[in-house]
Amino acid sequence: MKILVTESIAKDAIQYLKDQGFEVEEYLGHKQEEIEQYIKGFDALIVRSATKVNEALLANADCLKVVGRAGNGIDNIDVKACTAKGVVAVNTPTANIMAAGELAVAHAFAIFRNICAANHGVHTDDFRRGNWIGNELEGKTAGIIGLGRIGSIVARKLKGIGMTVIAYDPHIPQEKFDNCGVRRCKELDDLLKEADLITIHTPKNKETYNIIAKEQLDKCKDGVRIVNAARGGLINEADLAEALKSGKVAAAAIDVFDVEPSYNKEPGSQNFKNVLIDAPNCTITPHLGASTFEANHNVGAQVTELVSKVLKGELVAAINMPAFSGDMATIKPYTELAEKLGKLYFQAEKTPVKKVEVTYSGELASQDTGLITLSLLKGMLVGMGNDHVSYVNTEAAINECGIEVVENKESKVTKYNNLINVKFYTDDGRTLELDGTVFGKDTLVLVTFFGYEMNVEITDYIIAMQNDDVPGVIGKIATILGNHNINIVSMHWGRKEGDSKKAQSFVATEQKIPAEIIDELSKVDCINRISLLEFVD
Ligand code: NAD
Ligand code: MLT
Repeated sequence: MKILVTESIAKDAIQYLKDQGFEVEEYLGHKQEEIEQYIKGFDALIVRSATKVNEALLANADCLKVVGRAGNGIDNIDVKACTAKGVVAVNTPTANIMAAGELAVAHAFAIFRNICAANHGVHTDDFRRGNWIGNELEGKTAGIIGLGRIGSIVARKLKGIGMTVIAYDPHIPQEKFDNCGVRRCKELDDLLKEADLITIHTPKNKETYNIIAKEQLDKCKDGVRIVNAARGGLINEADLAEALKSGKVAAAAIDVFDVEPSYNKEPGSQNFKNVLIDAPNCTITPHLGASTFEANHNVGAQVTELVSKVLKGELVAAINMPAFSGDMATIKPYTELAEKLGKLYFQAEKTPVKKVEVTYSGELASQDTGLITLSLLKGMLVGMGNDHVSYVNTEAAINECGIEVVENKESKVTKYNNLINVKFYTDDGRTLELDGTVFGKDTLVLVTFFGYEMNVEITDYIIAMQNDDVPGVIGKIATILGNHNINIVSMHWGRKEGDSKKAQSFVATEQKIPAEIIDELSKVDCINRISLLEFVD
């Protein structure tokens, strides 16, 4: 499988992908339009913040399965368009938050003490230190807009240097403010009136775009200092430039622009203009928030691991999948079991399903099971021959098929510690049930099959047969398989309560069974029905 990387990530992360057997192409420094054309034929795309994963790019992406955002913000990813196309979008939300938080704090120090201007002065033979008298941060008030992952880190650090920290974030509970030891501002205006330093840490979206403009700047204390190391455009750039000129804002530090320059071009080779570059007392860094060796390593390692897992069909926490509150490793065997139960139905039975009801019992009842149900539905879609199904488009595809989905939980313990029961309500009015459980760490076991009780480990290739419960069946099956040199891994039988005449047999084999052997088996007189079950991706 082929992976396109359009922005630089750590070399060891690229090597990791190659070691996993992927073909990796670094296509760096290209224009958006070039990337939009080049994406054809790639299974995965890894970007940072410059490449726009938009409808134009996705329209040309003929086999894209996953977009890896090497970083935190996802404003350059059209998540809705990815979902519509069945493309999984992953990011590394925590890999660079320390780097970004520390840069915001570094900028706060720099603009309180005029460090950048003084440094420039010294390098241009100006040592008049009286021009660069600053202010201390200790004892002042810092106002944080957006008390999320980075905002909380910044709060902790600014409190550590003796600032009073207040914050405005209408979307988080009081508990978060209490845990951070930060006073909550109910309104943004309350923060603007009180803060000596304003630092912004929200995502960029319709609600936050230009959240600070002239109207808000006018409400600030005279001589306020402002840091934006989140996203360009959160602060109106022209209004901030005016406020810097008038002295209303004493100093600002900016790491991000509304429209960003190219960060790869040689000096002098791009004519980048921004009103803040010429504004007084404005310290600017070229989107350096995540630029530490530690963050680069973390981002590269995390994004490549996620992309590799998605390409291998594994379940990962993705931006465009239902939120999951548990531990992914704990539910993994259950997602695998559920997917196999879903696949099994359409391999053993052809009747369309109008409703599927899944019941989790035992220890599973206390888990967040949304992703397990999603895996079951994905398995069903694969079993129905849907080649383009992924975790992100499963729900839409199931809705399109008109299949109703019901999820139940029962804490009562059955004879198994955990059990997934699936009822398939067929179009012709029957209810067919499958039950599966996980033994030990990851042994997936089918314990009932359409009313037959059994105990079959779900392995790669299984022949499922309904036969007359008479002597000699095993011998006939084993002889045919033996004649074709097919090695049997295990055999199991199950009976239905109240039906002593029929049995259900499962024969697990080492290799895929060709159709002609299935045909030959189906002709054995006591075999009534035969299905080939395959669980290889
Ligand atoms: P986060 O999602 O953890 O936190 C964002 C917080 O903003 C949330 O608590 C949310 O409730 C709050 N928020 C949303 N709308 C708001 C509004 N209207 N008013 C006030 N608060 C609001 O995000 P994070 O990981 O802390 O990242 C914060 C920002 O930093 C993002 O924009 C991200 O893209 C950016 N970032 C920049 C760099 C860089 O290199 N400069 C690096 C990493 C992240
Ligand atoms: C991020 O959102 O992770 C940062 O802006 C860093 C980046 O993408 O380069």
